Amino acid sequence: MSITLGTPLALPCGVIIPNRLGKSAMTEGLADADDAPTPAHQTLYQQWSDGGCGLLITGNVMVDKRYLERAGNVVLENDSSMNALINWVRAGTRQDNQLWMQISHPGRQCPRLVNKEPLSPSTEQLKLAGNFACPQAMTEAQILDAIQRFATSARLAKQAGFTGVQVHCAHGYLISQFLSPITNKRTDRWGGSLENRARFALEIISAVRTAVGPEFPVAVKLNSADFQKGGFSLDECVQVAGWLSDLGIDLLEISGGTYEQLSLFGAEPDDMRESTRKREAYFIEYATAIREVAKVPVMVTGGFRSRDVMENAVANGEVDLVGLARPLCVDPELPNKLLNAEIDHLPCQEDMLVLGSGWLGNKSTITLVQVINTVGQIGFYYWQIIRLSRGLPPQPKIGVLSSFLRHTFNDLKLNLRRVK
Ligand SMILES: Cc1cc2nc3c(=O)[nH]c(=O)nc-3n(C[C@H](O)[C@H](O)[C@H](O)COP(=O)(O)O)c2cc1C
Repeated sequence: MSITLGTPLALPCGVIIPNRLGKSAMTEGLADADDAPTPAHQTLYQQWSDGGCGLLITGNVMVDKRYLERAGNVVLENDSSMNALINWVRAGTRQDNQLWMQISHPGRQCPRLVNKEPLSPSTEQLKLAGNFACPQAMTEAQILDAIQRFATSARLAKQAGFTGVQVHCAHGYLISQFLSPITNKRTDRWGGSLENRARFALEIISAVRTAVGPEFPVAVKLNSADFQKGGFSLDECVQVAGWLSDLGIDLLEISGGTYEQLSLFGAEPDDMRESTRKREAYFIEYATAIREVAKVPVMVTGGFRSRDVMENAVANGEVDLVGLARPLCVDPELPNKLLNAEIDHLPCQEDMLVLGSGWLGNKSTITLVQVINTVGQIGFYYWQIIRLSRGLPPQPKIGVLSSFLRHTFNDLKLNLRRVK
C-alpha cells in the first residue's frame, strides 16, 4: 500500500504520529517576564492543533535562564511554571496530535542584550552587526552542567504532558557549535576529531533518554551541513546521524545553516549543489544520503511548498515526515487543506518580501539593507505569530520594512522587561 500524507507513522519508541505533516519549531517570543508560557501560547497552539499536523514541535525552549536565543523565549529549568506548561499542552494537543518541546541552548548565538558573556566551545565570536559578544570557552564543569540541564528540561517537559522532546543540534546553536570545526577549536575530549566534537551531542541524547525512559519520543534536529568552508559537512552529518540512531532516537529532522549562513531559509551558499538549488525542498537529497546510514525516521524541513512534491517525497520513501514552518504562520489550516487535497501550493511570502538582494551573513561588509532585509523577513513571521496568538487573522500584506521596525521595537521591549 503506498504511503500518503495521511498515513500514520510508527516511531521506534512505539508512539504513532497520526499523519506525515510536522510543524517545525518556530520561536514564539511569547513568554512572560519570568520566561514562563502565557495564554498567548495556548491561543496560538490551539490553532496549530486544529490545523491538522500530526506533529507539532514548539519553538526553542531554553535550558538555562542566563542564555537565551532571544528575549521572550520560554525557559524550563524547574517546575515553577508547571501549570502554565500544562495549559499549553492542553491547547496544543486538542486534536490528539503529538506535541513535542524543542529544547536548546544558544551558545554564542545569544544576543548581547541578553548576555554579554555567552558560552561556546571556544572563543570564536559571531560578528553580526555587533549584536553578539565574544563567548567564553566552556569549562569542563560548564559542559557537564549544560548536559544535565537538557536532561532536566526533557524530564520536566514530560511531566507537563508534552508527548515528546526534540534536542536542537542545528542552526549554529551550542550543540551545533561543538560539532563544527569553525567554532570548536578545543584540544580536549570535546574537540578535534569528529568523535570528540560529537561527544557533547551524544552525551546529551543519552542523558535525555535516561531522563524520559524508552517509550517517550526523543528527536534531534541536525544540520545536513553548515554550508560554510571548513564547517560541519554532509559526510560528518551522515556519521553523526548513524551514531544518533545507534543511541535510539525516534526522529531525525534535517535542516542546515547557521546565523552566518541562513540556508535553513533557502539562502544559497556558494557550495550548494546545483541540483539542490533547483529543488523546492532543498535538503531532500541530503536526507537520502543520511537515510542510507541512519536507520531512523527522517523529517526534512525547508522549502516544501507544493502538494505533489510532498506526496512524492513520502511515497518514494525520501522522507517519513514533511516539515513545514513559515507557511503555517500565514495559514494554520494548511495541513488540513493539504490532507483533503483542497490546495496544490502553499502561500509563499518569502518571494515577495525581498528588499534589495542578499541575506545577512558572515561578510566583511554588512549593509543596512541586508540587516533590514534579513531581520524584516524573519520579523514578518514573528508578527504573524503574534497576531495568531492574539486570536487575530494573519496580515500577509505587511512589508519587510515595517516588519523590521515592529520586530526591533518588540525585541527591545522584551529585553527591557527582563532587566530587573
Ligand atoms: C519565525 C521563525 C522562527 C524559527 N524558530 C526556530 C526555532 O525555534 N527552532 C528551530 O529549530 N528552527 C526555527 N526556525 C526554522 C524553521 O523550523 C525551519 O527550519 C525553516 O523555517 C525552514 O522551513 P520552511 O521553509 O517550511 O519555513 C524558525 C523559522 C522561522 C520563520
